[in-house]
Amino acid sequence: MLQGREIVLVGGSGGLGSASARLLAEDGARLLVSYHRNASRAESLRSIATLIECDVTKAEDRTHLLDQAPGLYGLVVFTGDPSRVKSPADFEAAARHAQEVNYLGPISLARQAAARMQEAKQEGAIVLFSTMQAVSLFSGSTAYAAAKASLQHAARVLAKELRAANIRVNCIAPGVTAAGMAEASIASGKYDHFLTSGIVPRFGRAEDVARVVRFLLTPDCYVTGQVISVDGGAAL
Ligand SMILES: NC(=O)c1ccc[n+]([C@@H]2O[C@H](COP(=O)([O-])OP(=O)(O)OC[C@H]3O[C@@H](n4cnc5c(N)ncnc54)[C@H](OP(=O)(O)O)[C@@H]3O)[C@@H](O)[C@H]2O)c1
Repeated sequence: MLQGREIVLVGGSGGLGSASARLLAEDGARLLVSYHRNASRAESLRSIATLIECDVTKAEDRTHLLDQAPGLYGLVVFTGDPSRVKSPADFEAAARHAQEVNYLGPISLARQAAARMQEAKQEGAIVLFSTMQAVSLFSGSTAYAAAKASLQHAARVLAKELRAANIRVNCIAPGVTAAGMAEASIASGKYDHFLTSGIVPRFGRAEDVARVVRFLLTPDCYVTGQVISVDGGAAL
């Protein structure tokens, strides 16, 4: 159902983004994938997507990105930064950075994309990325979790504003997924207790998330304004 649909995957070169790009390409979507610093990682997607550099925190980059997608139907913003705080003195700088990358950049881009869809009288779907840390409470994650929680709330407001225009906005909140930014933590054993104490039956796979991305992008999908946890039950 996505055959020929123009879909922009921001941060689509990462662990969750690249699995989603592959699944959407199988459905025949026309993909524009952005990366930020790691151009070589993005190269593996060159055969299925047009690649573009974009810093989602920069207004001119966001405008340039959307200019490359004149028939925009779908926008998925994978961009994220765990913004780990190493000492109390680091907190303010980390929290500001977290807000820029995890909240302000993604929601600004979503609003710009929605405005273009409305102008073109184009139905559409927007998917934003949150985290289980914005659904449940994890000690030490204030900078990251609060920014993602802001994103979840703002996404629901946007969904309400756009429902009459048939532009759907949803969030995905992944759990511990063996891809991208969680790979090193899983390898270090940080999340082993999730398995040994039965919090989840297994770690997530990037494909678990990709399938939900595809579902939310499907043109006749009847879901909007939701935060969907893809976490094997971790947030419970
Ligand atoms: N993996 C997990 O278990 C997990 C769990 C919970 C939530 N999440 C969320 O899921 C999303 C995807 O995570 P992931 O594991 O796929 O992470 P990842 O592999 O680190 O990918 C992040 C992507 O975002 C891009 N990016 C980073 N900063 C950017 C910026 N300022 N502007 C534009 N793009 C930027 C990266 O580009 P470059 O690599 O080129 O710099 C990369 O393409 C994130 O929002 C994350 O918070 C992931």
